[in-house]
Amino acid sequence: MVEPDQPSTARMIDFWLGGAHHYPVDVAAAHAFEQAYGPCAPVFRELRAFLGRAVRAIAATGVDEFLVFGAGVPTMGNVHEAVPDATVLYTDVDPVTIRLGQRLLSGSDRAGYGFGDATDIGTIDPVLLHRFVPGWGRRPVGVVFLGLAAFLDDDTLLRTLDELYTAAAPRSHLAIDFDTEELAAYPDALSMMGPAFRMRPPAAFAPLLGRWTPTGDGIVPVTRWRPEGRPAEVPDAFHGAVAVRSAG
Ligand SMILES: C[S@@+](CC[C@H](N)C(=O)[O-])C[C@H]1O[C@@H](n2cnc3c(N)ncnc32)[C@H](O)[C@@H]1O
Repeated sequence: MVEPDQPSTARMIDFWLGGAHHYPVDVAAAHAFEQAYGPCAPVFRELRAFLGRAVRAIAATGVDEFLVFGAGVPTMGNVHEAVPDATVLYTDVDPVTIRLGQRLLSGSDRAGYGFGDATDIGTIDPVLLHRFVPGWGRRPVGVVFLGLAAFLDDDTLLRTLDELYTAAAPRSHLAIDFDTEELAAYPDALSMMGPAFRMRPPAAFAPLLGRWTPTGDGIVPVTRWRPEGRPAEVPDAFHGAVAVRSAG
């Protein structure tokens, strides 16, 4: 596999999670970011733990098909590992990450990986969608939208979540997170996230969900979303929620 010359946030997260699927360019970027911000591993461990609790809670409602946007590297407790009885289609726009994901999942008949621009669900290969999320539009599914909202402006995010709401069947569930203004105090780290990166105050999160209704757990720091035991003490960088499409 040809090594990428640009880092990816998804593979930097794999590095922070202690995974094995990143490249020197990702490690260099991760170290530079930590110089500007501080340790990241505990923060991303908590974010991945939230993913696990959220998708297991969705599976507990009877959902056994998941469509994942901005999926990153499909290891280290990612969706198909957290809900091993479900089928999962991972999608992303980064070609290197997609190829890596396809290689990692090549032996799986329950999880696949393909191109998908979250802002245009028509870009997903219908054959892959039918194979791994066969009930899409007809049966409740889990839509996983983590690590992505920060890269979409408000209008695009609202429209995208609304299109997903329309396309998904009633009683589908959405797992989502938002970046807080944590990085505002670290301008060098913030500038590394690029011009498209959006921090938001918590009051801005709920309106962006549009018709999706958060469960009674609300939109809370990810460590406090149905914690198993005492929530970890990490910087409040991400808020998360599971939201539901109404029955009608
Ligand atoms: C911060 S990473 C999060 C990866 C993964 N969800 C996780 O939590 O480990 C963001 C990912 O979103 C992808 N991405 C960015 N814009 C996207 C879009 N419009 N549609 C789908 N994926 C996108 C990037 O390529 C990257 O892999």
